[in-house]
Amino acid sequence: MTSKPGLKLVDRDESGVDTAFREDVIEGLSQQPKAIPARWLYDDAGSQLFEDITKVPEYYPTRAETEILERQGESFAKLIGPGRAVVEFGSGSSIKTPLLLRAIEPAAYVPLDISGDFLRAAAADLAAKFPGLPVLPVEADFMRKVALPEEVADLPKLGFFPGSTIGNMVARTAVDLLRSMRQTLGVGSQLLIGMDLIKDETVLLAAYDDAAGVTAEFNLNLARRINRELGGDIDIDALRHQARWNDDFARVEMHLVAQRDLEFSVAGQSFALNKGESIHTENSHKFTRRTAHMLLAASGWEMQARWLDEAKRFSLIMADARPNRSAP
Ligand code: AVJ
Repeated sequence: MTSKPGLKLVDRDESGVDTAFREDVIEGLSQQPKAIPARWLYDDAGSQLFEDITKVPEYYPTRAETEILERQGESFAKLIGPGRAVVEFGSGSSIKTPLLLRAIEPAAYVPLDISGDFLRAAAADLAAKFPGLPVLPVEADFMRKVALPEEVADLPKLGFFPGSTIGNMVARTAVDLLRSMRQTLGVGSQLLIGMDLIKDETVLLAAYDDAAGVTAEFNLNLARRINRELGGDIDIDALRHQARWNDDFARVEMHLVAQRDLEFSVAGQSFALNKGESIHTENSHKFTRRTAHMLLAASGWEMQARWLDEAKRFSLIMADARPNRSAP
């Protein structure tokens, strides 16, 4: 299925409730163990809190990836060449995207985002910084194949997916997304993708449980959002933020842990949490060179190059969409 421009991406009922949010929360709180999809962390307050997280000293991924983008401009230019349409999955960060666009000579910039507001703001920002560069924002759910603007139909494409956002997805969903990206961009396109690396557990846990408590606020904001938007009565003070390392899946998990037995209602339904029980709110998978190869290969992409920051904390990977061929 291809997303169509102008299609309403958020469904609201008569009282203005985001129905997908309500369904995900009710379903997530009804299962055992309880879990809510991480995408709901990012309302306006949550997006601002994530911006704040990128500035705390323990959260290294943003700085590490930015360092790679700053240092490797020449290698990108060599590998990418001029004249590509850069298609960014997500509406673009104020710092990272200009670093990439400045390093290469792009023919167009196409930011894709499900949130039209963020998309338009980021597109306007970028257009002001790069006069003469066609900026063609598309409001779309890029988990599915997206129809790109006519103007870039005949241009070679470079997908850009920084931030290790791929790490938020379990393997099955990550493969679905990477395959959709291949469909959106086409065979022969390239993909520049950030993947955070497996490292010392204490470093990882600190990055997701900073001393200033910004990540805790980010996590607790989900419970606040449930109370606010879904008429919930969760006692926020009875929940504690926790970051856990899941070694089997090589991921940091965020949980909201009940500090006492809790009963609450959401959208008219009753739920209970026992003391010590948690709501799982986010996964952040970490990768090695090998697991990155495996994930990409499973999705029709082949690794062309891989760069690390000086401290070897984070990887930025160039992959290309090769035609399917028989193997070995
Ligand atoms: C936005 C998905 C890259 O997983 O590192 C940061 C989100 N969560 N701290 C990540 C996040 C807690 C972040 N990503």
